[in-house]
Amino acid sequence: SFAYFTVKDRLPQILTKVIDTLHRHKNEFFEEHGEKGVEAEKRAISFLSKLRNELQTDKPVIPLEDELPDAALWNQYLDYQRSLLNGNGEPSWFQSPWLFVECYMYRRIHAALAQNPPIGSFDVFKEGKAQNFFESQEAIIALCTYFQELLKNIKDLDEKQLQGELFKLLQVSLWGNKCDLSFSAGEKSSQKSSPLQCLEDMIPYIIVNDMEKLWSLLINAKKGIQISTVRVDIILDNAGFELVSDLVLTDFLLSSKLADEVHFHGKSIPWYVSDTTKNDFNWTIKQLQSANHMWMSRCGINWEGNLKKGIWVYQDHMFWTLPHIYSSMAEVAPDLYADLQKSNLLLFKGDLNYRKLTGDRKWEYTVPFHQALNKFHPAPLCSLRTLKSDTQVGLKPGQGEQIQASEPEWMISGKYGIVQFDATP
Ligand code: F6P
Ligand code: MG
Repeated sequence: SFAYFTVKDRLPQILTKVIDTLHRHKNEFFEEHGEKGVEAEKRAISFLSKLRNELQTDKPVIPLEDELPDAALWNQYLDYQRSLLNGNGEPSWFQSPWLFVECYMYRRIHAALAQNPPIGSFDVFKEGKAQNFFESQEAIIALCTYFQELLKNIKDLDEKQLQGELFKLLQVSLWGNKCDLSFSAGEKSSQKSSPLQCLEDMIPYIIVNDMEKLWSLLINAKKGIQISTVRVDIILDNAGFELVSDLVLTDFLLSSKLADEVHFHGKSIPWYVSDTTKNDFNWTIKQLQSANHMWMSRCGINWEGNLKKGIWVYQDHMFWTLPHIYSSMAEVAPDLYADLQKSNLLLFKGDLNYRKLTGDRKWEYTVPFHQALNKFHPAPLCSLRTLKSDTQVGLKPGQGEQIQASEPEWMISGKYGIVQFDATP
């Protein structure tokens, strides 16, 4: 299965890259922290080599020994995995759910650094994320330019035109999810071509397309007399081009007055190689601000202003980097669940979020999305995701089988996408 291939090949590859990255930064650690920095680097590398060995030799998944605030929840989750085995051995790397061991690996990478001050806050994936951003430069310029032109006459657009622009920017944000560094095991994965060309040609690859439903929700909320503030939440995925596409979409929602306030949810630790942390979020906006291109920097300046005004709110929560699926959020992170309930619309970006929404199960393709969410309904929600793992629900009868017949890799190639909506809170 794709899970087997991932644990066997892709995860060790990612770990090897992490170790290389630390090696390459040795001099930097020395310059910043002297011998203590080099010692810390050595300890982190030996911790990570041990981790890679445990993985490759299918050792039991061991409890976390660090004192980080989420350690107890992880260890409880491991106990739960053990209880599922009914005394038949220990959960090990190849004998446990893919989602669990994959999340666990990223948490252990974090521990390798966090336990080794003074390099505790070094983000081993930072370089790759920055590179992805720089290599997508032209696409970012094209998108910022398009958007700033659009802003000039946004007030004059009628409803039909507004809808058309929303659909375009939703698609840019959807396909932006192809630029993910965990999928490519850390290899280059930037946006090269203009993100706005070819959207029409790619429509057939959106196999669930609920954009009309999204539009209805937003336009009705805007017209609704009861709702004074329309709040949209974006559960972010990858930094780099995808993040910029999400920020442009956000700016559009506010500038068109389809929303009044947007909350972003990022990761509190480096995660799945390219996921957005607070540092990445702020770094990206700073990069745009100081860019040598008028429309890029205009975007950056406006967005910084939105953060200051509090109409853009960045937040993170440890739940997003736990192995738990979202149907257990109400129990494991009731504060986060209650916060999401205040939103009018939740946009979940990316593949990992989809796996966690649907419990990462091997559902029949035709099972309704609502059912797969398994009582996770804090607010109306929508997944924007390119297919990079073998879970998919909500298809029409025969639809999945038909694609499968001609393209056996359709679920893991990133070529197909969904805009899948669930209205019922
Ligand atoms: O299978 C590819 C993969 O690495 C999965 O492990 C994970 O679901 C996904 O990519 C991450 O993708 P995204 O950044 O879209 O969540
Ligand atoms: Mg990601």
